[in-house]
Amino acid sequence: MIEKLKFSDIDAVVEIHIESFPTSFLTSLGRPALIKLYEAFLTYGYAYVYKEGDKVLGVMAGTLSTVEKFYQRLIFENILFFAIRMPGVLVKTPGLVRRIFLRIKRLFQKPEYDFREFEPEYDLIIKPGNHNAYALMLGVSPESRGKGVGKKLWIHQLHDLPERGVDAILASVDSTNEITNGFYEKMGFKIIARTKRKNFDLEYRWLAYWKGHCSVQESGQVVWE
Ligand SMILES: CC(C)(COP(=O)(O)OP(=O)(O)OC[C@H]1O[C@@H](n2cnc3c(N)ncnc32)[C@H](O)[C@@H]1OP(=O)(O)O)[C@@H](O)C(=O)NCCC(=O)NCCS
Repeated sequence: MIEKLKFSDIDAVVEIHIESFPTSFLTSLGRPALIKLYEAFLTYGYAYVYKEGDKVLGVMAGTLSTVEKFYQRLIFENILFFAIRMPGVLVKTPGLVRRIFLRIKRLFQKPEYDFREFEPEYDLIIKPGNHNAYALMLGVSPESRGKGVGKKLWIHQLHDLPERGVDAILASVDSTNEITNGFYEKMGFKIIARTKRKNFDLEYRWLAYWKGHCSVQESGQVVWE
């Protein structure tokens, strides 16, 4: 069963996040920072969980503002938390200093596109004032993978967000993440840009939905007009 994330689910969701993204930057900041992240999704982003009984098996979360604005707000609203907590984390993992610096810099940098498809459309989709959603996290606990949980979470999102007035749904995936890129291709999503930032891997930006330009079938398959 899919439902909206609740505060009481956050601990379970954080465990799934750690199992799904063990080496990611956000995971390296530790459990308390991940709790802040999912509180932010719950408060000013969006998030769903897939549950069997009380057990959370998967999570899908994102933002209805831009990715940069979402993370900037997360940092500014928790500035004291990070100021108090980060020195301890940095002492334990000194290599993190550079990663944090690069991530913060990235929030204020314009993306560099090494490729854009559908050039005029891309600009129309991301223009200010559009109600776009950016899917940022999709994680399924390892023992529940390959059973359709991730797909059901996406199908739910493809039906729910447009009902809430969203015009387009976007997602970025590292080019090396073959399972997710293959999954999105099969769903019918389109790669509309490849972004390459200095010091970061090449990312594919997927367009999952665009109002008036595609239809979402009951099965979740996206069909473009
Ligand atoms: C990506 C992820 C969310 C998929 O969730 P899932 O519940 O295992 O996926 P599903 O069972 O719904 O499968 C959806 C599709 O993904 C693909 N897929 C899933 N597991 C796969 C595997 N091991 N190998 C190849 N393709 C796979 C298939 O195309 C599948 O569609 P099909 O069943 O119609 O063939 C999950 O593997 C995960 O949590 N990975 C780690 C975190 C991550 O990379 N998240 C995405 C980036 S934000």
